[in-house]
Amino acid sequence: MPDFIDTDIVKKIENLRQELHRHNNRYYVMDAPEISDAEYDRIMRQLIELEAHYPELSSPDSPSMRVGALPLKKFDTIKHTVRMLSLDNAFSDSDILDFNRRVKKELMTDGEILYTAEPKMDGVAVELVYGDGKLVVGSTRGDGETGEVITSNVKTIRTVPILLEHHGDEKKAPARLEVRGEVVISREGFKRLNEEMSNNGLPLFANPRNAAAGSLRQLDPRVTARRPLEIFIYGIGDVADMNINSHGDLLCRLKSFGFRINPHIKKKITIAEVIEYFRELEEKRNGLPYDIDGMVIKVDSIEFQLQLGTTSRSPRWAIACKFKAIQETTRVLKIEVQVGRTGTLTPVAHLETVNIGGVKVNRATLHNEDEIRRKDIRIGDTVLVQRAGDVIPEIVKAIDTVRTGRETIFTMPASCPFCDTPVVQDEGEASIRCINDACPAKIKAQIEHFASKRAFNIDGLGEKLINQLVDKGYLSSFADIFYLDKEKIGNLDNMGAKSAENLSESIEKSKIISFSRFLYALGIRHVGEHIAEILASKYGCIENLYDAKYDDLKDIKGIGPVLAQSIAEFFILKENRKKIDQILKCGVNIHPEKGNIKQTLDGKIFVLTGTLETMTRSEAIQKIRILGGKVSESVSKKTDFVIAGQSPGSKIEKARALGVHIIDEEGFKEIAGAGLIDS
Ligand code: IVH
Repeated sequence: MPDFIDTDIVKKIENLRQELHRHNNRYYVMDAPEISDAEYDRIMRQLIELEAHYPELSSPDSPSMRVGALPLKKFDTIKHTVRMLSLDNAFSDSDILDFNRRVKKELMTDGEILYTAEPKMDGVAVELVYGDGKLVVGSTRGDGETGEVITSNVKTIRTVPILLEHHGDEKKAPARLEVRGEVVISREGFKRLNEEMSNNGLPLFANPRNAAAGSLRQLDPRVTARRPLEIFIYGIGDVADMNINSHGDLLCRLKSFGFRINPHIKKKITIAEVIEYFRELEEKRNGLPYDIDGMVIKVDSIEFQLQLGTTSRSPRWAIACKFKAIQETTRVLKIEVQVGRTGTLTPVAHLETVNIGGVKVNRATLHNEDEIRRKDIRIGDTVLVQRAGDVIPEIVKAIDTVRTGRETIFTMPASCPFCDTPVVQDEGEASIRCINDACPAKIKAQIEHFASKRAFNIDGLGEKLINQLVDKGYLSSFADIFYLDKEKIGNLDNMGAKSAENLSESIEKSKIISFSRFLYALGIRHVGEHIAEILASKYGCIENLYDAKYDDLKDIKGIGPVLAQSIAEFFILKENRKKIDQILKCGVNIHPEKGNIKQTLDGKIFVLTGTLETMTRSEAIQKIRILGGKVSESVSKKTDFVIAGQSPGSKIEKARALGVHIIDEEGFKEIAGAGLIDS
């Protein structure tokens, strides 16, 4: 280490790292956080700043790796020291009982065998190798023998420990430890990710497993870092050095090292209990936050496992008991084409309503024409439908044996079904697009996007109302939203004077908006929230973007040629500039990103309680954050201000007891300073 670096800095960095490792473990593995997310982020930012200042102090074990290392050109490969096997399947109780009989026969015993029963998570298998308690390699299963090295990507997963916990010398992790587990994305995470993909005009993932696999195989770890990946560890590679004779105990030991273990594991149970638990887990299945497709049972005794050994593809001591897939058959009534905001035509199958695992399904996306051809799905077909990842209904296949001959083949239209403009297909893409900017379907989708939560967030302006407004000719672009006539709205179906008044208030409120949200709302092809943020911080204001050239844009980190072209094209078009001018003229107030705003509340921690009068809770939170402050859920010694609205809760007492400043709404406006707060 160069001696000009202050030892205080070295110590400080080390302390921050230790603190972050500890809080990560408390939050993700122990489920017992000690600090708020905001506080965690603050410490992380401090560390990242210091490491940026002192690059010679950076380390592959730093928690800052969670935000993603530099992109790779390609993945290296690595041979697993112990092959990563797959599992044989059992589809019925009798298959499970047969397995138990085989195990007993091999072991030449008549005694009861004890098993561990674990959810079979539907994700991607990975191996993590630790040397002296540090994560050194993360890899995919690959063909079982050789996998791809994805170390920087797995480091971004918050539930993957970068350093192991040491619980006294006795229980210290072995010098070399290879663990295996499943990387998954929760259904909620999957939904959000697909929303983001759709907002960015990118193709959607079919299910959480594909999303997890795609996210892990990113050459740019910073992309992986933004994906909601999680891990559950279920076993180890080499069992030497662990000195343990029970799989159940092994999982407990792994947990003590800081690994996350699935909480629905039953340890040391008999085969009768295994069958009982299989039923229970199948019932629980839909209530779990992530997909499972069965239950894995493993002989608990490691000695027995070694005696039983493996076949060429799977261990003889474990079996996967598969759930019945949640699939039903139904009929394709028709296939309709939808047009999205960027003009992409998506075929959607309208189905005879069917109940799949408790959810009524009557639509299924068919993605694009290639997909329809590949699956050979025809109108009138009886089809097998499943809720892929138990979320988006998907047609698995057509049951061609029951075809009557009256089914008809669907072809994508040559022109847009809403405006009749001939469609175009971009080179190398499966989808086709309507390029008419006046297409009513496109306009409706654009307005919906413009008014959506993460854009202008106009409460009450949803799909149905937008359809009416466009069809009646009151809206011909999103810019017209700010010129809507209250009276006319009040006369629409299902709207009265009161709803019109509410809508007009929501529109008024939406007029203060950050530059990045504003850019995102414009619906520029491929510009999602993340890119909008990059553009906002690079250009600062809309006028600067007007003059942005393709060549400048394409060199911005994270943008590249496709996006640069799309952005430059958007701002060159007079029509688009006209819309923006129209929006700005009616009092829309774009405020700069945080970086350009004086951080008057820098680092101050606020807690809100009670109802505010002149702003909503989320507006107040947004304002605090814009001005550099933090918002916490609970009052502690670290809280700087409690903002008390009407009917405050018990947080007030706590604040009093701790001597924290209590302010009212007016007081808040004062300390935040006028300008921004006054809307
Ligand atoms: S044990 C040698 N346990 O299922 C035994 N696997 O078909 C290896 N999986 O590649 C696997 N949950 O990706 C095991 N609790 C669990 C599992 C599990 C999901 C996956 C794993 C493996 C595949 C085997």
